[in-house]
Amino acid sequence: MEGKIVRNQKLNDKYYLLEIKCEEFVREAKVGQFVMINTRHQDYTSDPLLRRPLGVADVNGDRFTLVYMVVGKGTMLLSEMKKDAVVSFSSPQGSTFSMVEKQRTALLAGGIGIAPVYWLAKALKDRGCVVDLYYGGRTVDDVVLLEELKENTDHLIVTTDDGSAGIKGLVVAPFEENIASYDIVYACGPKGMLRAVSNICVKHELPVEVSLDERMACGLGACLGCIIYLKEGDSVVQKRCCVEGPVFDGSKVVW
Ligand code: FES
Repeated sequence: MEGKIVRNQKLNDKYYLLEIKCEEFVREAKVGQFVMINTRHQDYTSDPLLRRPLGVADVNGDRFTLVYMVVGKGTMLLSEMKKDAVVSFSSPQGSTFSMVEKQRTALLAGGIGIAPVYWLAKALKDRGCVVDLYYGGRTVDDVVLLEELKENTDHLIVTTDDGSAGIKGLVVAPFEENIASYDIVYACGPKGMLRAVSNICVKHELPVEVSLDERMACGLGACLGCIIYLKEGDSVVQKRCCVEGPVFDGSKVVW
């Protein structure tokens, strides 16, 4: 697919928000899915060879939004792209979050894990859910779009490792204090955080869905570079994060 950049906005020294116009993509996209985006400025070059996986952070009219962090060459090139440039990307890929209605939901996001959680919060609010979002980062620079998030949640609880924004400490701590308030939990972020959230939910017999941010190369199910392990009955099976994921039942993941 192809689309035109509507805006590529720097949110702070690390994070960018990219809005792309593509009606076809918006029609197909579901909450929790991701896109493999081509970060090359010209199609005749082969550098960087691999497309980058980015979680879909929102859709609006004929546009969709991505939030990304500059971490290497691909995302650096992406950050230099200007309004009206045409970018190519895959169709929406991967599994989706379950869309419940009128439930009390807790959403947890760590760092760039906010991308799919942003859209999830809005979608759950539209379905009459109570949405509490626990959003953690290392520092104030790792928690973005706070005003927009406040509008789309019932409670926004921010934590940072160094206390430069919100409560000082890990994001799972305030969540665990309030755990009795929820029917279902969703999370996206670093593996350690997802493991901790899943273990807490298992202990309290709460359903938990996690979006795994595994490294991806092909994004097509071919290279097996994104394998994770899942419990199925008495056995453990391999799953490809890019095809069977990125959203999994957190209680089944072998951490
Ligand atoms: Fe290649 Fe998933 S990234 S199989």
